[in-house]
Amino acid sequence: MAVYDLSITDGLLSTTRAVRKRLDFERPVSNDIICACLELALQAPTGANRQGWRWIVITDRDKRNAMGEIYRRGAGTYLEDGQRNADTTGAAQDSRVFSSAQYLAANIQKAPVHVIPCIAVDQLPVDPPRHVWPGLMGSILPAVWSFQLALRARGLGSTFTTLHLRRDDEAAELLGIPAYIMQVGLVPVAYTIGTDFKPAHRPPLHGSLSSCGQTCSSGVHGPVPPLEMSHRPVPPLSVSTSQRTSSSTYPNLSSLFRVDEVLRNVQ
Ligand SMILES: Cc1cc2nc3c(=O)[nH]c(=O)nc-3n(C[C@H](O)[C@H](O)[C@H](O)COP(=O)(O)O)c2cc1C
Repeated sequence: MAVYDLSITDGLLSTTRAVRKRLDFERPVSNDIICACLELALQAPTGANRQGWRWIVITDRDKRNAMGEIYRRGAGTYLEDGQRNADTTGAAQDSRVFSSAQYLAANIQKAPVHVIPCIAVDQLPVDPPRHVWPGLMGSILPAVWSFQLALRARGLGSTFTTLHLRRDDEAAELLGIPAYIMQVGLVPVAYTIGTDFKPAHRPPLHGSLSSCGQTCSSGVHGPVPPLEMSHRPVPPLSVSTSQRTSSSTYPNLSSLFRVDEVLRNVQ
């Protein structure tokens, strides 16, 4: 028997989309709702139960404008090139994604809130071996997704973006982020225009599932086959408030920083 109403939980999980063209740039977003969603995000799992995350919340207009410029410099011609390529090859879904991503790139500064999730990398070895990355990213990205789910449940939308990371040094300078704090993305947040989002088309599970024992109805039985490279080209990994929130309301949010207090707080 299900513990929760699956029509609600599965609906949330299957319809939380990267929202770009349906972000309502005019409707203000309260600091409290951001903090409530971040509080929920803090329940996400982390490696060794270390909470090395930092959340930079930007509502200040000038800072958001500057982040928009950095984002566009980071994107370079990546999105236009992707759109052209998708149009040439007739990849309709990719074409829609690139069109939507270009819209966001042009307008990202208008999102009333930008959240930059970060993780402390002071313990990271020089030239880290491959096995380190899942632990590091796995200690922040589940929390980011929880944040996005919590937003969606409240009528807000977001997109996890990484394009500005190609210029993360510029963002670090703008926001005063020290070298041992690694930015992992930029999440523009706004209320959505309408709330009727749908499940996305995804290649069927059996294409990516290998089962070494029992199988589910859509599963593949038998030994793990050699991993095929993706059926479609994988694009390269792409990639401000400043109002203080009362710590008595959100006692766990000691990792939340006003943009102008980043340095002082994380040291
Ligand atoms: C690691 C990662 C990086 C991403 N980077 C960007 C980005 O820089 N800009 C953007 O507009 N979307 C970005 N996205 C959003 C994806 O384009 C989006 O999740 C994908 O197209 C699927 O759409 P859906 O989430 O609505 O199903 C990123 C998503 C992930 C998971």
